[in-house]
Amino acid sequence: MNITGKKIVIMGAGGHARVVADVIQHEGRFQLVGLIDSFQQAGNVCFGCTVLGGEDDLPELCRKNSISGIFVAVGDNYLRQIITDRILTRLPDLELITTVHPSAFLGSGVALGEGTVIMPGALVISGSRIGRGCLVNTGSSLDHDSTMEDWSSLGPGAVSGGNVHIRQRTAVSLGARINHGITIGQDCVIGTGSVVVTDIEDGVVAYGVPCRVVRPRQPDESYL
Ligand SMILES: CC(C)(COP(=O)(O)OP(=O)(O)OC[C@H]1O[C@@H](n2cnc3c(N)ncnc32)[C@H](O)[C@@H]1OP(=O)(O)O)[C@@H](O)C(=O)NCCC(=O)NCCS
Repeated sequence: MNITGKKIVIMGAGGHARVVADVIQHEGRFQLVGLIDSFQQAGNVCFGCTVLGGEDDLPELCRKNSISGIFVAVGDNYLRQIITDRILTRLPDLELITTVHPSAFLGSGVALGEGTVIMPGALVISGSRIGRGCLVNTGSSLDHDSTMEDWSSLGPGAVSGGNVHIRQRTAVSLGARINHGITIGQDCVIGTGSVVVTDIEDGVVAYGVPCRVVRPRQPDESYL
């Protein structure tokens, strides 16, 4: 573990937080001080990391421990945005850290927003732009000149062609395939294993081969 880098905490203590902690530790740029989780007892140890307290304890914990960065490890795209906004309203100087596993590939001209994680084995190909608070999951691939808007996610093993555009908070699930040049609207869930060959409108659940819109969806509807 890096003991000289910026001191940071992870918000969350679940399965997603576990993977993010691993990425942060392998990357070695930050000093991970502990976890913040309002549903855990302070002092509990999860996957080798100590729970320091809940969200309400964060201002005091940051002051006392010189913590200057945070990663919000909440898998649900909508909740990740809400929780991040709430934390930054309270602590506007806290940095949202970005972390990339050493086994991931980033092509030339790739831009990553703050609060984004690139998981092991992911490929982000030349000229792609990934916004704030995004999740590029294990072994997924975003091909050249594609865009992932803020708080969107690419599930494990999901693959896009070039020039794909995924709008805000949309989740592309496990193993989905997206044809080149496709735009997927905001607040959508593209189901596991789908093959997306036409543009998808905002606010829907869509799945299948070929991928079809199945029903409308509210932005705060859970999908995990
Ligand atoms: C799309 C999704 C949200 C389900 O949507 P839903 O409308 O709530 O669908 P339900 O679970 O009620 O299933 C309704 C029907 O659709 C089918 N279905 C659900 N997802 C499907 C998919 N991806 N492909 C094909 N059929 C699917 C179900 O088998 C069911 O069929 P039935 O009526 O014949 O029994 C879910 O399948 C999904 O993909 N979730 C995301 C999982 C994910 O991202 N995991 C990553 C973890 S890292």
